[in-house]
Amino acid sequence: MNSHRSSANPAADVPVDAGLPQHVAVIMDGNGRWATQRHLPRIAGHSKGVERVRGLVRACGDKSISFLTLFAFSSENWRRPKREVGSLIELFINALDEEITKLHQNNIRFRVVGDIERFGPKVAGRIHKAQEMTRDNSSLVLTIAANYGGRWDIAQACAELARRVREGEMDPTAITPESVETYLSMRGTPDPDLFIRTGGEQRVSNFLLWQLAYAELYFTPVLWPDFDLAQFDLALASYVSRQRRFGLTGEQAEAARRA
Ligand code: IPE
Ligand code: IPE
Ligand code: MG
Repeated sequence: MNSHRSSANPAADVPVDAGLPQHVAVIMDGNGRWATQRHLPRIAGHSKGVERVRGLVRACGDKSISFLTLFAFSSENWRRPKREVGSLIELFINALDEEITKLHQNNIRFRVVGDIERFGPKVAGRIHKAQEMTRDNSSLVLTIAANYGGRWDIAQACAELARRVREGEMDPTAITPESVETYLSMRGTPDPDLFIRTGGEQRVSNFLLWQLAYAELYFTPVLWPDFDLAQFDLALASYVSRQRRFGLTGEQAEAARRA
């Protein structure tokens, strides 16, 4: 497990990895291509993708991974054909209705980050209700990024800080990485240790820009509907084989790990 260990050595307070990641963040990409390859409508790929989400949530629970964050719909995905956008929202809401009781029974906290009001009051209301229902659960925090953009997130945090400065509640010199973080949507959640993107593209596509600063990046050509537990294990194996240095030398990082 990751931990923040304090010691007298120069690597004190550096997160130390001796095992699996505590927080996994995933860009689930490739649904459309998976469907097109099979001469199916793109939405068939998105449906199959939802099944993979179920499997991944279960696997994280089994492996005692505490945080799973999934990119479901980006602020740029509104540019897609209206029909695909509508189907994606419908799929999301149906999956939520079907799964929320099970998530709750399994002690999973469900949370959405992103500007959800844009989905309309009905969808936003369902999300608020699901969040409220599961808010005290503690086995896994499942965060879905929906109508989320990393730049939007940082900008809304800046706006809140600016408002506090204008009201005289805060001095500009108090704006630090730590204070910015308290206004980001992922506040209170440790940064992702492992970032996975399926579907072959090697980019971040405006996902958790701030929070990915020191994540280990894992890209796979496997399309999301084919990302099974064996694939997840490959990603985890890649992660555990790496040395996370956080700016230290390799020797310092190793000393920190052993401390
Ligand atoms: C990811 O799959 C799901 C969403 C973006 C909602 P895509 O739909 O982007 O699949 P490709 O990249 O077109 O294959
Ligand atoms: C990123 O995938 C967003 C989600 C998986 C929800 P995209 O398929 O939208 O990313 P780009 O457009 O290829 O960068
Ligand atoms: Mg894509």
